[in-house]
Amino acid sequence: MTGRPRSAILSSVKSNSSTSLAIDRTLDLFQTTRRPAHLQLREGYLDLLGNEDPTGPHPGQRWMASRALPLVYERLWRPMGGRLLMGGMGPSMRGEHRIALKMLSLTAGERVLDVGCGPGNFTRIFARAVGDGVVVGLDASRTMLARAVHETHADNVAYLRGDASALPFRDASFNAICCFAALYLIERPMRAVDEIARVLAPGGRVALLASCNRGPLPAAITSPFVKSLTGVRIFSREELTHALTTRGLTDVHQHVSGLAQFVAARKPAPRHTAAAHR
Ligand SMILES: C[S@@+](CC[C@H](N)C(=O)[O-])C[C@H]1O[C@@H](n2cnc3c(N)ncnc32)[C@H](O)[C@@H]1O
Repeated sequence: MTGRPRSAILSSVKSNSSTSLAIDRTLDLFQTTRRPAHLQLREGYLDLLGNEDPTGPHPGQRWMASRALPLVYERLWRPMGGRLLMGGMGPSMRGEHRIALKMLSLTAGERVLDVGCGPGNFTRIFARAVGDGVVVGLDASRTMLARAVHETHADNVAYLRGDASALPFRDASFNAICCFAALYLIERPMRAVDEIARVLAPGGRVALLASCNRGPLPAAITSPFVKSLTGVRIFSREELTHALTTRGLTDVHQHVSGLAQFVAARKPAPRHTAAAHR
């Protein structure tokens, strides 16, 4: 690691040693210019934003930063939201966990990024799948992250407060990236997709869950209306598959469920890497 000596970084992390180790492993993935000179470890997560708040002013976005929502998010709000969005025939929360794991095909030792991790409800599932790998949960909400730290007892997880649209990591840092139920709340979602594509390693997998426009009106009409009321952006059916394809990802698969879409894709591995693995 370049920049500040590791010992100086670790000594400024006032938390248990396993959290320090996961944060230290995460700092190894940072671009040199993005390594913080002073580590701000709040309530067990590393805060890269300080007083900055990249989230928007609409109610849906402000709720994510509230004190109350993280307390009921995982057991009440998210399962209900999933039902509202995907209907009675849509997957349960356990079903969504299985879908995410299938889309990401995680194996032991891999590095995983969970963008818009909220209270860590998917981050913790990924931590079990990668063993001695590392999982980074990134979110902009202090209260969501405090809850995530409280709920997480794995020593291979680090939580960061950062902006999905300006990730601090080096190119090709992660083997798998998940962004479930967050892209539609992110103010600059296509910038976040740029960043996801950038930090994904060759051969890496990405899994998205976002809104999907249905019905007679195009997303160009429904989205600005819904966004102005709630903060939620409605993506057209082609928008995310197209965004991933134009960023060089392949094997793009979409599954539409009610008003939601799951999108999986892969970054092509260089030819010689593919041959080496055969
Ligand atoms: C609905 S939660 C999703 C949590 C979890 N991934 C899930 O599927 O249940 C969306 C999260 O995105 C976060 N978020 C919104 N804008 C963000 C941004 N620009 N950067 C990072 N996180 C952001 C919110 O703070 C919120 O915790």
